[in-house]
Amino acid sequence: MTAPLLEMTDLRIEFTDADGNRAEALRGVDLSVDSGEVLGIVGESGSGKSIAMMAFLQLLPRGARVTGSAKFRGEELIGMSSARIRKIRGKAIGCIFQDPLSAFNPVLRLGDQIAEAILLHDRSMSRRTALKEVERLFELVAIPQPAKRIRQYPHEFSGGMRQRAMIAMALANRPELVIADEPTTALDVTVQAQILDLLGDLRKELGIGLVMITHDLGVVAGIADRIAVMYGGRIVERGPTDPLFYNTAHPYTAGLIGAVPTLDGTGALRQIEGTPPSIFNRPPGCSFAPRCTVAQPVCHQTDPALRVTGATDSACHFPLTTVTPEVAE
Ligand SMILES: Nc1ncnc2c1ncn2[C@@H]1O[C@H](COP(=O)(O)OP(=O)(O)OP(=O)(O)O)[C@@H](O)[C@H]1O
Ligand code: SF4
Ligand SMILES: [Mg+2]
Repeated sequence: MTAPLLEMTDLRIEFTDADGNRAEALRGVDLSVDSGEVLGIVGESGSGKSIAMMAFLQLLPRGARVTGSAKFRGEELIGMSSARIRKIRGKAIGCIFQDPLSAFNPVLRLGDQIAEAILLHDRSMSRRTALKEVERLFELVAIPQPAKRIRQYPHEFSGGMRQRAMIAMALANRPELVIADEPTTALDVTVQAQILDLLGDLRKELGIGLVMITHDLGVVAGIADRIAVMYGGRIVERGPTDPLFYNTAHPYTAGLIGAVPTLDGTGALRQIEGTPPSIFNRPPGCSFAPRCTVAQPVCHQTDPALRVTGATDSACHFPLTTVTPEVAE
């Protein structure tokens, strides 16, 4: 059996604030992604979606303390030498970020920048061949007139076209895994749909694994095979996409879908009220308790473990899909 493309086990990240207080921003995350699979990671701002990915790419600031395991094709990335991780990052693992404008150098032609990324990992290739490869990549991501476009600067591209160029950059070294962090947030709805279609097609065509990070469940609904919902630095629900939507176990996931549960079971079609806690001021027990419409006293005392609760795994004392609560009062 081959190892999963990416496998995280009990991944934890601790930060220290200016006063020397330490807090865990990521609190034991377990995830895996296989080749050809799309994993959606969803949650509100500050839930730990980006740092989870940045931890194993070694892109976190120096003060961050990372423990646990994150393996790429069975090879441990946590604690890996920076020389070795540089060979994997941008080659076997490609990244797409929210803001392509800041990812590209404004004074260099896009074709040259992407060619440079190719040459960085293949010194034997000529610049001319690398530029031809960029042209091919532009064609792959449906940028019209690629021969002309590779000679243009980032500001000459529209937002959607720039994001396509960024996808081309992520694919430049034929990665096995692509991590897309809010790749469509800055785009209008129509362009967003086009980019999602493109990512879905590329996954099928190239057989790559794809991690899609977003605050919007709707963005991953049509593209993800499995979804992990994060809140307060941990996974609160995890499972295949359909059951996560149709047999939702966690009240937070239900809130993201837009149907806040109520104690009388009627449910209400509205969003979650309140805001997520800061990592330095997390409430005891279930982090979601202050905002949860079905919280019970035990929720404010004990943080529930992530466990099988029907068709998905969830971390809730009173999952919406099971009749027997985990902890009896
Ligand atoms: N360098 C840092 N020092 C201290 N805390 C940090 C640092 N970087 C991130 N954090 C904290 O870690 C938590 C998770 O951050 P992260 O960037 O992963 O959130 P996110 O889920 O990606 O949110 P967003 O949707 O806003 O991108 C946040 O509460 C954030 O304040
Ligand atoms: S454990 Fe309690 S507070 Fe947390 S989500 Fe479940 S019901 Fe709500
Ligand atoms: Mg983020």
